[in-house]
Amino acid sequence: MPNVAVIGSQWGDEGKGKIVDLLCERFDVVARFQGGHNAGHTVKFADQHFALRLIPSGILHPGKLCLLGNGMVIDPEALLDEIEKLRALGVSIDGNLKISDSAHCILPYHKALDLAREAAAGGGKIGTTGRGIGPAYETKVGRFGIRVADLLDPDVLRTRIEFACSEKNPLLQTVYGCETFDPEKLYEAYIRYGEVLADRITNGTLWINEQIRSRKSVMFEGAQGTMLDIDHGTYPFVTSSNTVVGGICTGLGVAPKHINRVIGVAKAYTTRVGSGAFPTELLGEEGEHLRRRGNEFGTVTGRPRRTGWLDLPVLRTSVMLNGIDEIALTKLDVLDEIAEIPVCTGYNVRGKVWKTFPSFAVAHGDYKPEYRTLKGWAQSTEGTTSYDALPQAAKDYIRFVEDEIEAKVTIVSTGPRREETIVR
Ligand code: IMP
Repeated sequence: MPNVAVIGSQWGDEGKGKIVDLLCERFDVVARFQGGHNAGHTVKFADQHFALRLIPSGILHPGKLCLLGNGMVIDPEALLDEIEKLRALGVSIDGNLKISDSAHCILPYHKALDLAREAAAGGGKIGTTGRGIGPAYETKVGRFGIRVADLLDPDVLRTRIEFACSEKNPLLQTVYGCETFDPEKLYEAYIRYGEVLADRITNGTLWINEQIRSRKSVMFEGAQGTMLDIDHGTYPFVTSSNTVVGGICTGLGVAPKHINRVIGVAKAYTTRVGSGAFPTELLGEEGEHLRRRGNEFGTVTGRPRRTGWLDLPVLRTSVMLNGIDEIALTKLDVLDEIAEIPVCTGYNVRGKVWKTFPSFAVAHGDYKPEYRTLKGWAQSTEGTTSYDALPQAAKDYIRFVEDEIEAKVTIVSTGPRREETIVR
């Protein structure tokens, strides 16, 4: 089995968790390469409901190995909390979870800064998850971050925390009027996290390359979505990491030739949480219907998601950026009751039609989406497991998407459970 990447093709929350969980059986290793506990996967299996934030859904499958890669930002407190919650549900977490020694740590001042900046930004806020993700990546790039390996070295840890506090405390206090942090207390907490996590900490880059060399198959699990990528998304309303497939190479230390296939996960419509452009957004009753019917509320923050029609320029951009070989189309059943389904096919920017997402024109409000309206199927597809059993109009919808974005839809999800899936 080749190594496969599972990437979000829109603004996150496409249902990657379910797809990773579904395909997991075929892989030996599941590795995350970016982001932190801003991600939120909900996996439903049998009578259990698992909310995962940091740990790949592979952890639910006995015998699979999971890695938190160097490109991630990890809040050790959140990680330990997640481990405990999974254990309480009967999930075994021992030698099956590895943490890269070069991943960066989120500290409480990162979270405080994230929240303070959002509060200060007023109407211009990004709508972050408030988990400290952006500030943690900032300290990484600023070269004074604290890496997971530093948790195991008391002298380095103390020095780095003291240095970080000498910069963050005045910033928090003077600029934002917030509480400051006692470096000694942070040191005590983080040295303890290091002790508890020590057995899992490894040279993640060597480890994953050894797995690949010994012919183990790897699934690379993306978090967030392509349009939230720091370089290619709707900047500045993005997350602070590379969510596109290229992030795997840097976020795990895996060479491009080892990424053999890319599955793009796309919802049959579009959602987004947080601020920023969303040209196909529905602000009235139709949007409310999608939100209610699709249970579109954030896994991490519980925030209602913004909802809208499918945006093909977004998907084409995603196919291009990620080299998507196939699409997993999720939540098709949410469209069941809609009589006529508009789909955005392009953007008119000053008389020129764009087939990919015209980021700058959209950022400056200088565009007009063009739609094609498709016939709805007005019957339930909930829980359908065979493609042939789908109503003709639903097949036409899928076919239309495939033709427009030039990628085959190989998986269709018709409900939240693992079983409610069509694999073509
Ligand atoms: P941050 O990643 O918390 O800094 O948030 C930046 C932007 O990314 C905000 O619009 C968030 O709502 C969005 N975001 C972050 N993680 C996710 C996710 O897992 N799903 C959807 N949106 C996300």
